[in-house]
Amino acid sequence: MDSASGVSLPASESVSAASPKKVIIKTFGCQMNVYDSERMTEALVAQGYVETTELGEADVAVLNTCHIREKAAEKVYSDLGRLREVKEARAREGKETLIAVVGCVAQAEGAEIVRRAQAVDLVVGPQSYHRLPELITRARSQGEAIVETEFPEEDKFAALPAQRAPKAATAFLTVQEGCDKFCTFCVVPYTRGMEYSRSVNSLAEEARRLVERGVREITLLGQNVNAYHGEGPDGRAWSLAHLIRHLGEIEGLARLRYTTSHPRDMSDDLIAAHRDEAKLMPYLHLPFQSGADRILAAMNRKHTADEYRRLVARIRDARPDIALSTDVIVGFPGETDREFEQTLGLVREIGFAQAYSFKYSARPGTPAANLPDQIGEDVKTERLLRLQELLESGQARFNTACVGKTLPVLFEKLGRRAGQLVGRSPYLQAVHAEAREALLGCVVAVEISAAGANSLSGVISAP
Ligand code: SAH
Ligand code: SF4
Ligand code: F3S
Repeated sequence: MDSASGVSLPASESVSAASPKKVIIKTFGCQMNVYDSERMTEALVAQGYVETTELGEADVAVLNTCHIREKAAEKVYSDLGRLREVKEARAREGKETLIAVVGCVAQAEGAEIVRRAQAVDLVVGPQSYHRLPELITRARSQGEAIVETEFPEEDKFAALPAQRAPKAATAFLTVQEGCDKFCTFCVVPYTRGMEYSRSVNSLAEEARRLVERGVREITLLGQNVNAYHGEGPDGRAWSLAHLIRHLGEIEGLARLRYTTSHPRDMSDDLIAAHRDEAKLMPYLHLPFQSGADRILAAMNRKHTADEYRRLVARIRDARPDIALSTDVIVGFPGETDREFEQTLGLVREIGFAQAYSFKYSARPGTPAANLPDQIGEDVKTERLLRLQELLESGQARFNTACVGKTLPVLFEKLGRRAGQLVGRSPYLQAVHAEAREALLGCVVAVEISAAGANSLSGVISAP
């Protein structure tokens, strides 16, 4: 493999096994960043690095960053301040520390990061992180910061090591990246680039390896996952539904999920998969952003509130018990009280099992940032509080309605109390139950006895 595509370095550049270098990766942002961090860790471990959770021990500290809202992006700089102190303290002990900023802030701000935070040695965009091991070696020897934010031709997934680390019961699998939708508030098309779908064969192979390592549930990820159109084994473009049916054939895989979907790409075959594919869980994250058509148009969402309503009706027709989740933005430029009320109205009408809500944050370079009538912080705060109160009551209602039902739960980890395990219901709710550790990774019927704001508890049903 040549160095441009990669992770395998000449032996002399690899980290010697006698003194393994330690790496820490801190992850911000969405699940796609969580997936990327895992793949980066694996790429570094393949080069002889070991993972640490102690910042003071790390020879390499990586921040995998998010640019979606101003707060997320600014958080990076406060963390970098702390990292600089650690780097200086370690230098006094004669130890070198390499600081790398990767992910969406790296892509959006590039060299500006090094200007603002001089302790940074390396800036790498989300399309180039497969080159991290090689870039770290170069940054070390070069003694001057490297900024790598190109969108390279090569397929980073093909260049990453195939060996994936031992796994828990659930795993993420990025199937699609980037976005061509250009919602006027959003940085993702700029930080992640145009839509790109991985091939069915490479995904099926990765999914099979995950299942061999004990994974029972896979969540397919993409910024616009339902726009998936990867090359199938027959040379044609396969839809997400087709991919789901294909992956559903993997023996030992119990559950499939996918996130995040755009209403425009919710095709008939995907809706049908919610009815027909037993392994596809009845949960759908489908952001609507605003209940007002004028705002939706200004956001360039390409759908109206009514189209969203009708889409939900079709999905519920196919899968009546489906749990719906969503994203909502309050205080988009020009949003009136009445328009905000329309958002509340749509929330009441649909009834969401779960939701994420945000105050609009003006992002540099996006069209909405230049719109007149930016909404004041106090109005946004008030609207967000009202919206969240409504969303929380919807979530509580959904959870309470589960009491008395018996749900299949995939146990994922030990609970906080001894003798207790925590898993997920089909509807993605956390479920606590008294259970033997041997049931980790198993799907078990649990009778739900109580519902809290964010989780359920229950008792394993007698076999
Ligand atoms: N691709 C997904 C979401 C990606 S970002 C989709 O289209 O739905 C996740 C969420 O962050 C968005 O759904 C939106 O609600 C929110 N978001 C994105 N940009 C934002 C901004 N500038 N201000 C506030 N919230 C934003
Ligand atoms: Fe951003 Fe819109 Fe693309 Fe979602 S669909 S990632 S909100 S531009
Ligand atoms: Fe954030 Fe980038 Fe994800 S901006 S939400 S980490 S795609």
